[in-house]
Amino acid sequence: MKNYNVLELDQVPQVAMDAMNAVHQEELMIVNNISAAIADNDNIRISKLCDQWLEHTIAHFARENTLMETHAFPAFHCHHGEHIEALAGLEAIINDWKESTDIEALTNYVRDTWPGWYINHISTMDTITSAFIKSCL
Ligand SMILES: [Fe+2]
Ligand SMILES: [Fe+2]
Repeated sequence: MKNYNVLELDQVPQVAMDAMNAVHQEELMIVNNISAAIADNDNIRISKLCDQWLEHTIAHFARENTLMETHAFPAFHCHHGEHIEALAGLEAIINDWKESTDIEALTNYVRDTWPGWYINHISTMDTITSAFIKSCL
């Protein structure tokens, strides 16, 4: 069976807090499932998984935002700003998919745009945030 994973689990950078790592792995599993559903041309499954992805991302970012606020993380605005931008981008791509079922745009986002963004965000914003919060605990 062909592997359509956009990233493997061991490619996700590890941060200082286990709870954050678990959420990051969960999200990658959802995105890998979307990539597999794209390969199967299963539009219903793609849409269901996109809903799950959006819900998961909203909760993921909200948890990190709350942690940063609770511990008065100095670069809150920088990290929070990336969350706002990324969530808006994800919402737009999913809305476009539902309106147009343009598989090419979704595929490009899932397989090309998102993996690089994800690795970069975790290895910068999440890594610094996690290390700071761990030092406060
Ligand atoms: Fe994160
Ligand atoms: Fe983050």
